[in-house]
Amino acid sequence: MEGLAIRKAIVSDTDRIAELFGGDPGEEASGIAGSRDKAIAFGTGMVRLPDGPQSWRHTVIAELDGRVVGILMAGGDRKDVRVTPRLVYLALATFGPLGILRLLTRLRARVRVQPKIPNGAFHLAEIDVDPAYRNQGIGGALLGYAEAEARAAGYRLISLTTSTANPARRLYERNGFRIVATKTDPAYKRYTRIDGRHLMVKELG
Ligand SMILES: CC(C)(COP(=O)(O)OP(=O)(O)OC[C@H]1O[C@@H](n2cnc3c(N)ncnc32)[C@H](O)[C@@H]1OP(=O)(O)O)[C@@H](O)C(=O)NCCC(=O)NCCS
Repeated sequence: MEGLAIRKAIVSDTDRIAELFGGDPGEEASGIAGSRDKAIAFGTGMVRLPDGPQSWRHTVIAELDGRVVGILMAGGDRKDVRVTPRLVYLALATFGPLGILRLLTRLRARVRVQPKIPNGAFHLAEIDVDPAYRNQGIGGALLGYAEAEARAAGYRLISLTTSTANPARRLYERNGFRIVATKTDPAYKRYTRIDGRHLMVKELG
């Protein structure tokens, strides 16, 4: 695509990353957070945590004629989320003390549908393209960049998880990923109206 450049993010991209990552939450994020507004507040707040897995450090940017139109997050393993004072402050400010208890119940349901990520895989944690720029190949270009990065670093496997309701699955299949595990949970479905999540992998030959 002409005018499209993919590059690693820098700290000054943070506001735009927050907008693309948290500004338009789907049914899953809104269902787990309890409302769309809380999902926006928490999602954008997570991007601003300096060492969080959603920070600019783990983000690749798609830039079209100088405008940031897409992001991909990789390498910031979810297992590495550390409960720092800033994260606790963000959770308290967003949900309040009682809200956090309700959130923990919903998060347990979310954890139950999270397939185990294979050891040693280059894991893609998130991909978002500005709604105004979708279906033009930007998502595919971000995946291609991540794959090249994984190959160059010697990885043999790329992984990602996606909800069973997400049409993005077709994009992943088109790019060589296949479903290797699916987890569902009735409580998760009550909160989100989604059955569960797929683990998809691509072997790098
Ligand atoms: C998934 C996403 C990043 C794809 O970006 P894109 O630039 O449109 O991707 P491309 O143009 O390279 O490919 C388009 C493909 O996206 C998928 N897609 C179409 N509509 C979609 C939607 N509403 N949501 C998710 N994926 C969609 C389809 O597979 C489509 O190709 P196909 O119709 O030919 O099968 C973008 O739709 C998005 O940001 N969605 C919302 C966030 C999201 O769901 N992220 C994935 C979390 S696992």
